[in-house]
Amino acid sequence: MNPLQDKRIVLGVSGSVAAYKAAELASKLTQAKAQVDVVLSEGAERFISPLTFASLTGRKAYSSLWDSDAHVVHVGLGEAADLLVIAPCSANTLAKLATGQADNLLTLTVLAARCPVLVAPAMDGGMFEHPATQANIQTLRQRGVQVLGPAQGRMASGLLGWGRMLEPAEILGQLRLVLSRGGPLAGRHVLVSAGGTQEPLDPVRYLTNRSSGKQGFALAQAALDLGAQVSLVAGATAASLPTPYGAERIDVDTAAQMAEAILQRAGSADVLIMAAAVADFRPRQVQPHKIKKNLLPQVELEPTPDILLAVAEQRRRIGWPAVVVGFAAESQNLLENAQDKLARKGLSMIVANQVGVPDAGFAVDTNRVSLLWPGGAVEHLPLLSKSEVAEEVLRRVVALLAEG
Ligand code: PMT
Repeated sequence: MNPLQDKRIVLGVSGSVAAYKAAELASKLTQAKAQVDVVLSEGAERFISPLTFASLTGRKAYSSLWDSDAHVVHVGLGEAADLLVIAPCSANTLAKLATGQADNLLTLTVLAARCPVLVAPAMDGGMFEHPATQANIQTLRQRGVQVLGPAQGRMASGLLGWGRMLEPAEILGQLRLVLSRGGPLAGRHVLVSAGGTQEPLDPVRYLTNRSSGKQGFALAQAALDLGAQVSLVAGATAASLPTPYGAERIDVDTAAQMAEAILQRAGSADVLIMAAAVADFRPRQVQPHKIKKNLLPQVELEPTPDILLAVAEQRRRIGWPAVVVGFAAESQNLLENAQDKLARKGLSMIVANQVGVPDAGFAVDTNRVSLLWPGGAVEHLPLLSKSEVAEEVLRRVVALLAEG
C-alpha cells in the first residue's frame, strides 16, 4: 500500500545551496523503499558530491554527461522512471526546462521522461519574482509540470522572501500523493477522527485521556495512499503531530467541537473512521476563574454527545456515510464490549483495541487489534505497527465499499 514501494524515482539536483536538503530527500525516499536514481547538474556538484547520494541510495549517482556510458543513460533513466522530481531546481535549470534545452544529463533526462515531472524551485527571492522566472514557471505549469513551493523565509543571501526550497518531508508528501492518484479510493471522501479530547474544568484545567493521535493519523495516511480525499478531525492531544500531506485538518479541543466537525462532514463522506478517544463525560459546569486549591471542588460530570450514535441516526435518514468504522478501547472484556458497541452504534465494522498493555493502545507505535463485523465474524491481527494496522483497516474498507 506504500505508494513509493519499488517505484523508480529520478531525483534531479541542480546548483543551489539547498542541494544539502536533497540528500535528506534521497534518504527518505530510499527508506520508503523507492529506487532512487540521482542526477546532478554541474552546478549541483559544486555544492554536494555524487558519492553522498550513492551512499544514501545504494545506487550510482549520475553527473557529467560525458562519464562512461552516460550518453545513453538519460533515455534509460527517463523511460524507466515512475516519477521525476528536481529538488532543488535553480533558476537556470527552470529556464533550460522551459526552453527545452538539453545540455546536461539532467535536462536530457527530463526530455526523455514520460512520467509526471515535479520541480521544487530554490533561489533568491528577487530571482524567483523576476518576470523571466515567473514566465518559465508558467510555461512549465502549462506543460503539466507540478511546481512545489517555494516557501517563504530567510535565504542564503540573508534576505527574507519567497524562494526557499520546501522541506524534504513536504516534498516527500507531494510525491506520495502523486503516486497514489488513481488508487482504489480515488474519488472517495474519507473522514477520520484521531486523538483525545479535552474537557475544561476551569481556565487552566481539563479532563482528558492518553490518546496520542498516532493510530488515527496513520489511518488518514493510509487512506491518502489509496487515493482518497481525506479530512482529519484531530483532538487536542494530537496537536503536535504533523498533518499527513494532502489531508484537510480540523483541530478541535472538546467532544462537542469534535461532534460538530464530524456531523458537518459525515453527510458528504463515503467513509467515517472514528479512531478518536472522545471523552465520555465532562464537567457539568466550567468555572470562569481558576479554582483555588483551598476550595477542594466537588466536580459534577455529565455525558458528552455520542458522535457515532448521532452519525447512525443521520445515516438512517440520508444513507451516508456508506461505511462507518468505530474503535473500541478496552482494558477488559474486549470482544464482548466491542461487540456491544458495534451493534449499538450501527457500525459496518469495529476495531477492538486492547489498552493497558505496554506494546499496544495509547501512545506507542505498535498496536494489537481484532476486527469485528455484524453477524459475529471476528479476525485477530498480530502485533503490528500502527501504519500496518491502518493499512489492514483500509483494505477492509475498500472491500466494504465494493460490496456496496
Ligand atoms: O491515539 P493513539 O495513542 O494512537 O491510541 C489509539 C487508540 C487506542 C486511542 C485508538 O486505537 C482507539 O482505540 N480509539 C477509540 C478510543 C475510544 O474512545 O473508544 P471507546 O470504546 O470509548 O469508544 C467507542 C467508539 O465510539 C469509538 O470509535 C469512539 O471514537 C466513539 N465515541 C466515543 C465517545 C463519544 N462521545 N462519541 C463517540 O463517537
